[in-house]
Amino acid sequence: MNVKKIVAESAVKYIQDGMVVGLGSGTTAHWFIKKLGQMVEDGLEIKAVATSVESEVLAKELEIPIVNFEEIDQIDVTVDGADEVDPGLNLIKGGGGALLREKIVANACQQLIIIVDETKKVKHLGTFPLPVEVVPFALSLTKKKVEELGCKSEIRMSDENHRYRTDNGNFILDCEFGNISHPQELHQQLNMIPGVVDNGLFINLAPRVLVGYKNGNIETLK
Ligand code: 5RP
Repeated sequence: MNVKKIVAESAVKYIQDGMVVGLGSGTTAHWFIKKLGQMVEDGLEIKAVATSVESEVLAKELEIPIVNFEEIDQIDVTVDGADEVDPGLNLIKGGGGALLREKIVANACQQLIIIVDETKKVKHLGTFPLPVEVVPFALSLTKKKVEELGCKSEIRMSDENHRYRTDNGNFILDCEFGNISHPQELHQQLNMIPGVVDNGLFINLAPRVLVGYKNGNIETLK
């Protein structure tokens, strides 16, 4: 059973004609975009904003009308995946490297729907290394400052010889903090470091979280 596909497809019930839809990134959001593409083919009329080049390319292949952020006043619903979800519905995102655009879109939308399989539910955030997007200038200084907050970090690579670049041309530091007991505080401390663009902690966004289970059940957390 493909749990990611099942939970992703269940999110389409939040989509209605006339909406502006934020398209998330990653393998779970992929299935949501595919299903949305079928619905558009069947006559659903929406516009969409993509959180990554990859999601935009897929949406365009499926003839989902993509608009620029500048062309819209608001986003009605965004459907996106996550790497970890804690009991307060705080998230770690950015495993796919799209955290900055994902955070902008998540903050700009009326309703944020997060689609995950059960493995993403955690008691405390931090087992998944926290992605931190940093500008290339003064990378080692920024890395040192980030590590002073209590982590070990790795520069993400796209292959053996090349550093991974985000859609915004930046690098990602994957940071092992262990249990993140004060996510709000860490979020602020990280984003205060010059050179840090943003980090993968998504705090206080009050998402609706759809969790897919191996037996096919879907739990809604709110
Ligand atoms: C990309 C993300 C993804 O939503 C997150 O990594 C989950 O991905 P997947 O659905 O492939 O497990 O934040 O930046």
